[in-house]
Amino acid sequence: MSENRNILVTGGCGYIGSHTVIELIHHGYTPVIADDFRNANRKVLEGFNELLSFVPEIHEMDICDRKAMKALFASKKFHGIIHFAADKAVGESVENPLKYYHNNLEGLNVVCAMALEFGVFNFVFSSSCTVYGEPNGVKEVNESSPKSQPGSPYGNTKLIGEQMLADVHNAFPKFKVMNLRYFNPVGAHPSGALGEFPIGKPNNLFPFITQTAIGKQECLVVFGNDYPTTDGTCVRDYIHVCDLAESHVKALKFLENQSGNCLEYINIGTGRGSTILEVIQLFESRSGLKLNWKFGPRRPGDVVEIYANADRSRDVIGWQPKYSLSEAIDHAWQWEQRIAEIR
Ligand code: WQD
Repeated sequence: MSENRNILVTGGCGYIGSHTVIELIHHGYTPVIADDFRNANRKVLEGFNELLSFVPEIHEMDICDRKAMKALFASKKFHGIIHFAADKAVGESVENPLKYYHNNLEGLNVVCAMALEFGVFNFVFSSSCTVYGEPNGVKEVNESSPKSQPGSPYGNTKLIGEQMLADVHNAFPKFKVMNLRYFNPVGAHPSGALGEFPIGKPNNLFPFITQTAIGKQECLVVFGNDYPTTDGTCVRDYIHVCDLAESHVKALKFLENQSGNCLEYINIGTGRGSTILEVIQLFESRSGLKLNWKFGPRRPGDVVEIYANADRSRDVIGWQPKYSLSEAIDHAWQWEQRIAEIR
């Protein structure tokens, strides 16, 4: 009997999810997507077709819908789960916290309950560096760095999500859990076939830069220039979305090889921090364009400086990023020009 390679990918039509679906297929897995397209654009199906010559199995559903989720698990034996589906706009979560607590936590609750009921014990959770809050003094955080209160309800839902999974694992040690703490996902697929489809005005830096460059946004506002950093602007660890996608396959393979009792936390970042001004300058030099930007007030909730200690990602799951920040910028800009045509 052929080995079961079915992987449930919740949120698999989203930005990170869609890039991970491609990686899963390239590594011989069969991704099955559950997505209600609230944070996804249906044009992602054209990207799947362009890269795969087919569209993976997609179940359009709300992951909080226990009845629908139970029917999906009853219809197919899964070998593992990668749980992306969640709302992720830090600013929006401050304005609408209950939307985040419901979707992000009830969604996780339902998927976990089904995993236990149907005996699916390889669980990869899309967590976030926001669980560290504001690093107190230590800007390069490792997985056991002290955590301060996350700066947003979004960050709280990721921290609580990790705690929920730890409690489920402690109650059922066969339930193996890998928490991947993403730093700042950026860029797009080098082929130009997949990328991010921000809904409305982008919250994140990279899409705002590329939309300003292409003329969809008037001017990029840099939130704050008086931080205690090399040039007064915030520092982040920008990780190429394809490197991030590959880390999920590595995480899955790691879990498969564990006999049981596995609860892990892994930073997924480059280990390098970049300021906003460094990103802007790199974009201008790579694109040959002059970006229209100005300084504005600080954004509430922003962490001053954070980047990953990436040792455990290498030592535990054998993953290391391959793409440079320049390549991430090139691919993000290539994608922005591509969707300017198709929108
Ligand atoms: C980066 C920097 C802004 C927009 C993200 C995700 C979060 C998590 C961590 C995965 C900040 C500045 C931004 C703009 C600006 N990832 N900025 N002008 O806040 O680090 O969080 O990564 O879970 O989900 O949201 O990313 O891109 O919003 O901001 O100056 O128009 O760029 O102040 O310093 P952030 P971001």
